[in-house]
Amino acid sequence: MMGIIRDKNTNRENFVFYADRIIRLLVEEGLNHLPVVETTILTPTGQEYQGVEFQGRICGVSIIRAGESMEQGLRDVCRSVRIGKILIQRDEETALPKLYYSKFPPDIATRYCLLLDPALATGGSAMKAIEVLIDHGVPEERILFVNLICCPEGITAVTDKFPAIKVVTAEIDGGLNEKKYIVPGLGDFGCRYYGTD
Ligand code: URA
Repeated sequence: MMGIIRDKNTNRENFVFYADRIIRLLVEEGLNHLPVVETTILTPTGQEYQGVEFQGRICGVSIIRAGESMEQGLRDVCRSVRIGKILIQRDEETALPKLYYSKFPPDIATRYCLLLDPALATGGSAMKAIEVLIDHGVPEERILFVNLICCPEGITAVTDKFPAIKVVTAEIDGGLNEKKYIVPGLGDFGCRYYGTD
């Protein structure tokens, strides 16, 4: 599936279809990393089964725009999940990532947060988004950054600054090119998913 979405000849319909399948797998994997408590279940055969149960609460936070493509995958797995949003863009004057908009569930500080952005490139927007979540009271160790593709530069930048966060990804690529695209990569995820230039 990663081969299909990386292929420059893949049309938009297939790109969206396979990206959605990967996103669903990533969300399921992300949920596997949340803490659980042991619980005893009685099955219809009258036998006990030692299971586990998730006791916390989660929410999604998508980084606009590409991160919004991952919201449905989260909803498919967690019915009625709350989803916050963050818009970060490069400040024209300073060239640094700047927060333009954010909206979160009011009790976000008590939830595990799945931060959604398909590509971890330089880590600039991810670090800004994590900073905003921490400012809203979310402990670093309750943030799970979910992406489809990343590179060593981004992973190092994010985990050096926030060592307690977890990153769940589908593939780690070689690095970044001069335009800060991940290589070999898949191009601009948002443009390919939404069919824009
Ligand atoms: N965002 C993308 O969509 N692709 C990259 O390669 C880097 C950032």
